[in-house]
Amino acid sequence: MNIGSIIEDRAIEKRIAITPEIAKKYTDLGFNLILPKNYGTHLGFSDQDYENVNVRFLGNDQEIIKNSDIIIQLVLPSDEKLSFLQENQTLIGSLNAFLNKKKLEDLKSKKINCFSLELLPRITRAQSMDILSSQANLAGYKAVVEAFQIYERAIPMMMTAAGTIPAAKVLVVGAGVAGLQAIATAKRMGAVVFATDVRMASKEQVESLGGKFLTVEGSENLETEGGYAKEASDEFKKKQEELLSETLKKIDIIICTALIPGREAPKIIKEDMFKNLQPGSVIYDLAAVQGGNTVFTKVDEVVEKEGVKILGEANILNKLPISASNLYAKNVFNFISNLYDKKNNKLNVNLEDEIIDKTIIK
Ligand code: NAI
Repeated sequence: MNIGSIIEDRAIEKRIAITPEIAKKYTDLGFNLILPKNYGTHLGFSDQDYENVNVRFLGNDQEIIKNSDIIIQLVLPSDEKLSFLQENQTLIGSLNAFLNKKKLEDLKSKKINCFSLELLPRITRAQSMDILSSQANLAGYKAVVEAFQIYERAIPMMMTAAGTIPAAKVLVVGAGVAGLQAIATAKRMGAVVFATDVRMASKEQVESLGGKFLTVEGSENLETEGGYAKEASDEFKKKQEELLSETLKKIDIIICTALIPGREAPKIIKEDMFKNLQPGSVIYDLAAVQGGNTVFTKVDEVVEKEGVKILGEANILNKLPISASNLYAKNVFNFISNLYDKKNNKLNVNLEDEIIDKTIIK
């Protein structure tokens, strides 16, 4: 079977879906690989690196797509590229099934199998394929680095002959995968870290990383069976607002990561709250693309309000595309290994397997 991948629109996506290390794993498993020239050169992976593991190069995207049984991408390709797909081919990626529902249904009606990996269930067996976790983990780390970079004071406490610099105080809003990595990163750099979440299970995880958990008094646990957050009640939102408003008086940096699947991000840092922040404070909003956790967040802009800088980017992973590609490529390889029936050299679309059933576009 042939696996192919074409170059993403690099203005918006620098990650790649097949690294040379993973290309070797595919060839060892019995697949033939087809890529365009210069597929990974922008990340330091030369054509020679791919040739060394028996990757074949074809001239243009149409040829690559037509000759591949499986096409692996990061994001859904353009309409023109999608039109090259034919019956019985398989497309795998982070296809954003929620946003691209119509396009994916059209592909399905042409008998093209699409698997959108952001739909993977959060179960133990799927952990090695979990692109949301691998990428959110890196995003949580990088958001802290970006916020600390723009913050104009030192982060750790420093006791010097000229006086003491206090440690920066960081608040992490949302303690899921990205939030927990943000807490760990901020702690490692010497900050004092506070965190809040609507899921009570996260309290213990925050505390195990040395963070102080802010509990909204009398709140119920807003966790779904799948481990995600539910929309909070108005009463909860009011109590959370009071708690955070008070906390913000002592906070220097906020890392926002709060998301509710399939909905706009909850607005947690309201206009009024900005009065409680010190000028010079920094907010990094990882929820920017989903509408942002602050009322002022703008994608790919540094907004300044009351002396507070608010950052948010369309794709923070473009700032560490090598690490992100290494993990993404491994996730997809693990997904395909589960899907591939080596004995009969075909994909086994077994809908009784929860991993396959949840990710395939029906
Ligand atoms: P996410 O990216 O959808 O949300 C981020 C965080 O924001 C979540 O912790 C959520 O509870 C929180 N949040 C939402 N609304 C909020 C609000 N109004 N105020 C404060 N916080 C709010 O979630 P993520 O990080 O993708 O995953 C979270 C869940 O998935 C956790 O339960 C985690 O343990 C589970 N998980 C399980 C895995 C497994 O294989 N068993 C792998 C990875 C994650």
